[in-house]
Amino acid sequence: MIPAIEGGSAVRQKYLVFGSPMIEEAEIEEVVKALRSRWIGTGPKVTLFESMFRDYTGSPHAVGLHSCTAALHLALLAARVQQGDEVIIPAMTFCATANAVIHAGAKPVMVDVDADDMNITAQHIEKAITAKTKAIIPVHMAGRPCDMTPILALAKAHDLRVIEDAAHATEGVYQSQKIGALSDATCFSFYVTKNLVTGEGGMLTTPHADWAERIQVMGLHGMSRGAWKRYSDEGFKHYQVTEAGFKYNMMDLQAAIGVHQLPRMERYLQVREKVWRRYDAAFAALPMTLPAPVRQGDVHARHLYTILLDLDGLKVNRDYIVDALHAENIGVGIHFIGLQMHPYYQDRFGYRDEDFPVTLDLSMRTISLPLSAALQDKEVDDVIAAVHKVISYYRR
Ligand SMILES: Cc1ncc(COP(=O)(O)O)c(C=O)c1O
Repeated sequence: MIPAIEGGSAVRQKYLVFGSPMIEEAEIEEVVKALRSRWIGTGPKVTLFESMFRDYTGSPHAVGLHSCTAALHLALLAARVQQGDEVIIPAMTFCATANAVIHAGAKPVMVDVDADDMNITAQHIEKAITAKTKAIIPVHMAGRPCDMTPILALAKAHDLRVIEDAAHATEGVYQSQKIGALSDATCFSFYVTKNLVTGEGGMLTTPHADWAERIQVMGLHGMSRGAWKRYSDEGFKHYQVTEAGFKYNMMDLQAAIGVHQLPRMERYLQVREKVWRRYDAAFAALPMTLPAPVRQGDVHARHLYTILLDLDGLKVNRDYIVDALHAENIGVGIHFIGLQMHPYYQDRFGYRDEDFPVTLDLSMRTISLPLSAALQDKEVDDVIAAVHKVISYYRR
């Protein structure tokens, strides 16, 4: 079959948007209710969502925020990371992980990742520890938990804080322990393509009461009392500004969606696991590496189904395959182009493409296929058909 990019007809007539989320009637009604109540800013729905998230993760403190990026930034401030400090992060991550470190005034020290699971490991981290290292940010790439026991042990031995970037891993479990209750802080994303969506949105969990308090204050201008309490029927209260904070608070409009999505997380995960198994079976004989099996005792949050193309077995490069899938009306993603390959980090910190060979290799070969709980069986059929059609055509 001739791919659409070469003049053939496309597998689908309608474009399949990558990462289009599952939205149900209950959250639509809850948002409308919030609008009708005319209390749409930070308020009781955020408080409810935070308490549900504490129950979900088993963490004693949860703070609703505007994004995972905001959560990472505030966690670093709570960890007292500052100018002159270094924070170890994987090169294979989204730019938000590095930018949060930079905004905290510190240097993001990038390390390579494991070729099999795309995650940072204690071995990589250990080599990068210096006298300036203050914290480590493990990223649970694609929803697969990092091997946390050795990372936490290393952090303890060197007196380093651990802040997890769990943007992909809301449902993740590491060795029977829920992600969100393992380290000094865990940062979750509820961005539009994530497993749980609130539009923009994030949550920070921490076992430390003083961190939670500071994060709450720093997330709302550094004001000593929550704004919603100031205007509620508890009576007017003066606020005091105790630090120069940020505007990172979550709104009730966002939490209205989250309180209905959270109880469905396991059901949505099961749907994505089914799609995952279908992809595993369908692509086993193609020139590509499929996601590695999940470590015994873990739950993979199944956020991204990432194939790694075997470029030697193909006549074209990854970007051409992406264009060809796009022409078949299948939206795909690339997670990620290693941070060392972006001009800003190269210019500012002197990183080079070849500094992290595994990340470089993954960056050139990875494609994320659609994996939403909203996917219909027919849409999964179309993804499988398009991948087969395109890969078979360009196979050597
Ligand atoms: C690994 C990782 N960290 C952090 C973020 C930032 O999340 P947010 O958009 O909620 O700030 C993302 C977003 O895609 C991400 O993929």
